[in-house]
Amino acid sequence: MSLFNVYPLNPIAITKAAGSRVWDDKGQEYLDMYGGHAVISIGHTHPHWVKRIEDQLHAMAFYSNSVIMPIQEQLATAINEVSGKKDFQLFLCNSGAEANENALKLASFHTGRKKIIAFKKSFHGRTSLAVAATDNPSIVAPVNETDNIIFLPLNDITALQNCFATQGKEIAAVIIEGIQGVAGIYEASIPFLQAIRKCCDEAGVVYIADSVQCGYGRTGQFFSHDIAGVNADIYSMAKGMGNGFPIGAILIAPHIQAKFGLLGTTFGGNPLACAAALAVIEVIQKENLMALAAEKGSYLIDALKNIAGVKTVRGRGLMIGFEMEDGLEDLRKVLLNDCKVFTGEAKPNVIRLLPSLAITMEDIQLFLNRLNAAIQQLKQTHS
Ligand SMILES: Cc1ncc(COP(=O)(O)O)c(C=O)c1O
Repeated sequence: MSLFNVYPLNPIAITKAAGSRVWDDKGQEYLDMYGGHAVISIGHTHPHWVKRIEDQLHAMAFYSNSVIMPIQEQLATAINEVSGKKDFQLFLCNSGAEANENALKLASFHTGRKKIIAFKKSFHGRTSLAVAATDNPSIVAPVNETDNIIFLPLNDITALQNCFATQGKEIAAVIIEGIQGVAGIYEASIPFLQAIRKCCDEAGVVYIADSVQCGYGRTGQFFSHDIAGVNADIYSMAKGMGNGFPIGAILIAPHIQAKFGLLGTTFGGNPLACAAALAVIEVIQKENLMALAAEKGSYLIDALKNIAGVKTVRGRGLMIGFEMEDGLEDLRKVLLNDCKVFTGEAKPNVIRLLPSLAITMEDIQLFLNRLNAAIQQLKQTHS
C-alpha cells in the first residue's frame, strides 16, 4: 500500500518540534518560519497546550453533539472576548474548507439566494462550494463547477458596486480573505472592505471574512479584516486555532438565526479540539502574542526591505511575503537545504513567512542572518 501521491514532498521527516524549531529523524535542527502553513500559532508543543489536551484526554476524549458540552461554551465565550465580537455565535467544525463551506451554505439559507461574490486569486479550500469560490480552475472538479460564483478583481470598488447594481438581489454572500495567503500575500484595502460592508448592508447580503489563514491574531488583530473598522457577518477560522490540533469554526453575527438541523458535524467541537483551542487563546492572552506579532512583524518587514536582493515585501504582522530579484529563484531551496530554514511559498516566486506568533527576536535575527547568507551563496554561484 502506498500514499496517494498528491503532495510534492521535501525529503525530510520531522520527528520533534518545540517553539519555532523542528528536528528531523537524523537530529538535524531547522528554524520554522513557515509554522506548518500558518498553523503553529503559539509555538510547537507549547507546554500549556500539551497539558490542556492531555488533561482532556484523561477526562473524556469524545462524545457526540447530542449532549451539552460545557467546553464548547467556554470556547465560545473565550473567542467572543479575545475577538471583541461579543454577541456572535460559534459553530465548530474541523478545517478551513469546512468552515467556509458552512459559512457559504449558511449565507444561502439565510438569504434564500444562490450567487456568491469571490475575488481573483482567492483560496477558500477544496470542498465543493469553497473550491468553486477559489480562483484556481485546476483544483475545481467538473462536479464542483457552477455559475453561481462571480469572481471580481480584488480592491476594485467600481467593479464591486457595478456587480451589486446589476445582481445585488441575487447575491447571498461576499467572501474575502483579509490578506490573500495562497495567492502570495495581497491585502484587501480598508476602503474596499468598507465598501463590501456598505454594499452588503444595502442589498441584504452576508459578508464572510475568511480568516482561516490571516486570522487568530497573526496580523496583530484577532481578525485582520478588523483593520477596516467594520464587522463581517461571518468569520471563518481554522489554521492557528488549534496550534496543530485540527479544528475550524465560524463566528456568526446575532442577526443570523440558528435552526435545528441547519448545520451539523460528527467531530466538530469535540472536547480535545476545544481544549486545544482554549489553550491557544489562553496563551495568546497570557503571553500578549497579538501585540507581539504586530511588533515583531513590523521589525521583520522593515528588515527585509533593507536586504539587498529582496525586491518587494508585502504583508502585516507575521503574515509576510517577499519576492526576490532575478537570479535568486532557488533561494527557498537554499534556505531549506543549506541554511536549515523552513519557509512557505506562493507561485510563481513569492516566499511566505508564517512563523509562530511566539517567535523570539533572536530567532527572527537568526532568520535574517541565514537569509543574507543564502543570498550571498546564490550570488557567488552565479558570478
Ligand atoms: C484563506 C484560506 N481559506 C481556507 C483554507 C482551507 O483550509 P483547510 O486546508 O484547513 O481546509 C485555506 C488553506 O490554506 C486558506 O488559506
